[in-house]
Amino acid sequence: MAGLFDKLEMGSISLPNRIVMAPLTRARAGREGVPNALMASYYAQRASAGMIISEATGISREGLGWPDAPGLWSRAQVEGWKTVTDAVHRAGGRIVAQLWHMGRVVHPDLGRGQPISSSPTTAPDYAHTYEGNKPYVAARAATHGDIRRIIADYIWAARNAILAGFDGVQIHGANGYLIDQFLRDGTNLRTDEYGGSIENRLRFASQVLEAVGDAIGMDKVGIRFSPNILTQGVEDSDPTRLFTALATRLEELKVPWIELREAHQPTSAGAVPTAPVSPAMRPYYSGAILLNSDYDGPSAHGRMAEGIADGISFGRPFIANPDLVHRIAVGAPLNPGDSATFYSGGAKGYVDYPTLNEAQAA
Ligand SMILES: Cc1cc2nc3c(=O)[nH]c(=O)nc-3n(C[C@H](O)[C@H](O)[C@H](O)COP(=O)(O)O)c2cc1C
Repeated sequence: MAGLFDKLEMGSISLPNRIVMAPLTRARAGREGVPNALMASYYAQRASAGMIISEATGISREGLGWPDAPGLWSRAQVEGWKTVTDAVHRAGGRIVAQLWHMGRVVHPDLGRGQPISSSPTTAPDYAHTYEGNKPYVAARAATHGDIRRIIADYIWAARNAILAGFDGVQIHGANGYLIDQFLRDGTNLRTDEYGGSIENRLRFASQVLEAVGDAIGMDKVGIRFSPNILTQGVEDSDPTRLFTALATRLEELKVPWIELREAHQPTSAGAVPTAPVSPAMRPYYSGAILLNSDYDGPSAHGRMAEGIADGISFGRPFIANPDLVHRIAVGAPLNPGDSATFYSGGAKGYVDYPTLNEAQAA
């Protein structure tokens, strides 16, 4: 049985340990979504992770609806990310880009016109905009032309990720964004080949994966899902059936790794989890499964021992503990994170969390 400190091969990426940094939006890239030196410092501080998954990164203006989040569609964004990937590699780390299209939760103030989803629905609650919270706007259903164009945007962003020096990409299929909006029958009301049966609802995710795999090599591609939570109003009547079918499809496509946000407690967004789906997916998928949510060192060791997970990804613990790997190795206590600075911009609560050595020296 592998442990957290064993090596792991995931396609073309070799991880020296199985403690992965989960994707974390930190809203430090400015209105043009261009990564900068501050972001390079933040990621380099965390380079001892087995692998870093970047914060969610827009594939297009249309798909990016989070203030000050980064993108990967422009030359300036590619150049900005190069400083980040260089810093991580110089510090001995590995980093993949999480590729994001937010679908119906892109407010027109940030995106481009009316948002797009699988079907004409409206997300509940409020969008964060530069002028504060605003109600979401009704989405229109993607046409076949839109779907082709969005897949082309994924290809473009994935190629840009490689140009920018990333070791690979993770497709964001979790948390109620566009791919999740296609997967689940609560938001996918289509009657064409992209809706209805599970087979049809898997089509968009499958086509994105195939296209990105053809463009940069499937050995550099992973994907994230959140099977057991309802987020941003996106839910399914039978997540176990949906995600076991998906596991079979990922096996056929030879996707080398997946990350599952499998919550145990209500999430920061207030989503209440249903039963874990990873045990049902495991028999159908032979690639690496990274499990996420609510772990600390001891619970992560325990989870690995159950034999479902090949690695554990940590979100909030990595925000507050740049040396999380070392702390888990020596069983040290973890710094608590300050949620007030998660998205606040600037260096405070971003690059100033102490390592264990710094804390002991102080
Ligand atoms: C500040 C913050 C930003 C997040 N940003 C992203 C993101 O960009 N992409 C994503 O897939 N999940 C995102 N998440 C979810 C985390 O990756 C993770 O699933 C969640 O924090 C639960 O894991 P944890 O208990 O280890 O923190 C975010 C969570 C937080 C707290």
